[in-house]
Amino acid sequence: MAMMWAGRFSKEVDSRVNDFNSSISFDCRMYRHDIAGSIAHATMLGEQGIIEKSESEKIIEGLKGILADLDSGALEFDPNAEDIHMFVEQVLTERIGDSGKRLHTSRSRNDQVALDLRLYLKDKCNDLSKIIFELIEAIITTAQEHYDTIMPGYTHLQRAQPVTFAHHIMAYAWMLTRDLGRLRDCKKRMDYSPLGSCALAGTTYPINRKRTAELLNMGGVMANSLDGVSDRDYCIELASALSILMMHLSRFSEEIIMWCSWEFKFVELDDAYSTGSSIMPQKKNPDVTELIRGKTGRVYGDLMTLLSMMKNLPLAYNKDMQEDKEAIFDVIDTVELCITTFTPMFKTMTVLKENMRKAAAKGFINATDCADYLVKKGLPFRDAYKITGTLVARCIDLGTTLEELDIKEYKRLCDKFDEDVYKAISLDACVNQRCSEGGPAPEAVAVQVEQLKAILRQYDFD
Ligand code: ARG
Repeated sequence: MAMMWAGRFSKEVDSRVNDFNSSISFDCRMYRHDIAGSIAHATMLGEQGIIEKSESEKIIEGLKGILADLDSGALEFDPNAEDIHMFVEQVLTERIGDSGKRLHTSRSRNDQVALDLRLYLKDKCNDLSKIIFELIEAIITTAQEHYDTIMPGYTHLQRAQPVTFAHHIMAYAWMLTRDLGRLRDCKKRMDYSPLGSCALAGTTYPINRKRTAELLNMGGVMANSLDGVSDRDYCIELASALSILMMHLSRFSEEIIMWCSWEFKFVELDDAYSTGSSIMPQKKNPDVTELIRGKTGRVYGDLMTLLSMMKNLPLAYNKDMQEDKEAIFDVIDTVELCITTFTPMFKTMTVLKENMRKAAAKGFINATDCADYLVKKGLPFRDAYKITGTLVARCIDLGTTLEELDIKEYKRLCDKFDEDVYKAISLDACVNQRCSEGGPAPEAVAVQVEQLKAILRQYDFD
């Protein structure tokens, strides 16, 4: 393919430079958005009388044909084309002749690529939102089955106070809901058209930028042409939002990895979502969750690539910015892959309620409740705390638990203790009494589930 800029040069570009410069191998995925942008541009050029109406129509027909042929596979990308923009224009000119050469009037690849990427990422925000939404729904469904499934709550990975499995996993549902919100915000901010910024300084033609933005269903136009072609903050913002999401998913994954271990055995993954070892026949490994944990680093890496690539770049367009695409595409592909694998894995996972309960019954998880019992009998919390601490130490000496410690031992330390202490420190009581807003008591968790469902009902995708 002859170079578009051939007029200025007396030599062919070295083939290594050609390959080095080329981005078609990865920007070809934006072909639909590129063609949509060109159709809007050609429409506007015709309406404004910048090109003949008939030529505009011919261009649009030609572009539609290219789109159909790329969709069907009848037309293949030319690996020698520099990028998707050059490729489409070249094919158009081959197909419709000289009219094709008029498409690029008052446009540059600089505003074209910025537009394509915004349109592509907008769509991806939607696709990702849908799969995140499904994961949140799966968590809610499981939570509703486990209002009474008591498990230890941890701080410092030490058993702390009892919670329920429903309460525990709902924490992730809320995190993911904020991730959804971040995607929505991000999408809103990227929904401005840079088209008409041209190379950097706008154009002398009487273009109508609002019209192309409207044709592309965008929220508005970018107010500054230099800004329009030279920022990639929307990529960075999306990569940040998705890094936060991966951070959440990696924590959830890490917990599932721990819960799968024999030391915890709180859950059992479905065979379809675990892998074996080539040497140790007893092994059933949570590879999916481990890979998600690993891929989180990869997404953070992509974010760093984008930030570093943009650092110190003078205005306006610089070729460095071509590096934006592989990084942000990798973020999107990785996140998509992680969520779509995680969700069915989570849905098919067996929750081992009895093991959770057994773990919650050890480790003096009810010590706070024992102190609270004394507070309810009139003692100041600090005194109650100290007495309970002494009781715990006594239990450890005797190799027993608070539930099993003789009432005489209790009474020896404080005469306010009565037989009813056993009821107050029973696991069920410990959970049921924690009915403060946002707490683990079944009725409190049911409230947050309804709150979240109401938020999700309001959620609309376009
Ligand atoms: N392939 C280029 C990119 O992705 C398109 C813009 C090229 N512009 C230019 N002036 N060389 O950034």
